[in-house]
Amino acid sequence: MRTYLVTGGAGFIGSNYIHYMFKKYGDEIRIINVDALTYAGNPENLREVEKRPNYTFVKADICDREAIEKIFAENDIDRVVHFAAESHVDRSIVYPEVFVQTNVLGTAVMLNCAKKAWEQPDGTYLPGKRFLHVSTDEVYGSLEEDGGYFYETTPYAPHSPYSASKAGADMLVKSYMDTYHFPANITNCSNNYGPYQFPEKLIPLIINNALQGKKLPVYGDGKNVRDWLYVEDHAKAIDMVQEQGRLFETYNVGGHNEKQNIEIIKIIIETLQEMLPADDPRKALVSEDLITYVEDRKGHDRRYAIAPDKIKAEIGWYPETMFKEGIKKTIAWYFEHEDWMKNVTSGDYQKYYSEMYKI
Ligand code: NAD
Ligand code: DAU
Repeated sequence: MRTYLVTGGAGFIGSNYIHYMFKKYGDEIRIINVDALTYAGNPENLREVEKRPNYTFVKADICDREAIEKIFAENDIDRVVHFAAESHVDRSIVYPEVFVQTNVLGTAVMLNCAKKAWEQPDGTYLPGKRFLHVSTDEVYGSLEEDGGYFYETTPYAPHSPYSASKAGADMLVKSYMDTYHFPANITNCSNNYGPYQFPEKLIPLIINNALQGKKLPVYGDGKNVRDWLYVEDHAKAIDMVQEQGRLFETYNVGGHNEKQNIEIIKIIIETLQEMLPADDPRKALVSEDLITYVEDRKGHDRRYAIAPDKIKAEIGWYPETMFKEGIKKTIAWYFEHEDWMKNVTSGDYQKYYSEMYKI
């Protein structure tokens, strides 16, 4: 039975990954989820799995070396899947230091503890051990509007404190592979969407605001482009890279689904209109009149787009979920989980929202 140590599993992608893995492998695997439960970590995301005998939750900070060492000492970990990070660009512009702390120092702690646990006296590693570092396409910087893609060979050019800290973490992972022959992979993924995404990010924020008839904030001219990937496709890619990918390689993961932000917002409005029953009072609230252009994000990257050619050629992964289908599944999930949304938007979220959006 393989044992996985997942970091940041109470967040958006981490919780979707844990659900995906239990759906795929059932009782054949064991998962230990270590998460500090910051504002972005939510135990509710894992209610369905928390009673499984092959699931364990450990509340700890990945920067806490003793806590992480203890997990490795007490368990024979086969796979590390490292999601834990501060993930929101806007927050990094206001509070850069916590991004350096968690994303860079936390990654160093994870690498060091795994190395210590897995390295043998002759400098080789216990067979079958693998570390996967989950990173982002934002490390590659920004593309021109009229062409080009990010490839694994694209030079790093991060612009925000978030992407700079992720680039720093990636470099550390690369240094461990080069210096110590440490058994790792890096995946650099484009924008994810789907269930359990915290409504500081564009798609859940727009769904939540639209359903309440609140303004829909669009940064700048709304023409920045992102490449959207349904989160379950990302979870599948991570598993395939760990099981079939070549060690020491980086794989880019993307949706081949580039859209301007304003297009995304209009699709959400249209889909909400299609999906809301005729007698639902929210139907009258959802309208393009809510679209409100606001001040642009500082250093706002213009366009991201991944060419997922390598992962397709070597491993056979490709983005399976078309945006039209993925956004319907996502909206249906938010309809069915109104309480989840209410819980995460009470308290601190209100303060965050009013400080961030003066509309
Ligand atoms: P998220 O913000 O939803 O979740 C992050 C999780 O990490 C939370 O559960 C939080 O409690 C935990 N965490 C934060 N600091 C921690 C610490 N110091 N110690 C332990 N746990 C801590 O993030 P997400 O959107 O799920 O992203 C997960 C990973 O995927 C990140 O590494 C991010 O850079 C990367 N990524 C995200 C996207 C995206 O579109 N969301 C795309 C590509 C890559
Ligand atoms: O590309 C991968 C990255 O995608 C991940 O590494 C990050 O963790 C993740 O947060 C995401 O970053 P973005 O900055 O692209 O995502 P966000 O949802 O914050 O914004 C998407 C686009 O929408 C971006 O161009 C900014 C714009 N936007 C965002 C918000 C929150 C708005 O116009 N209005 C908004 O209110």
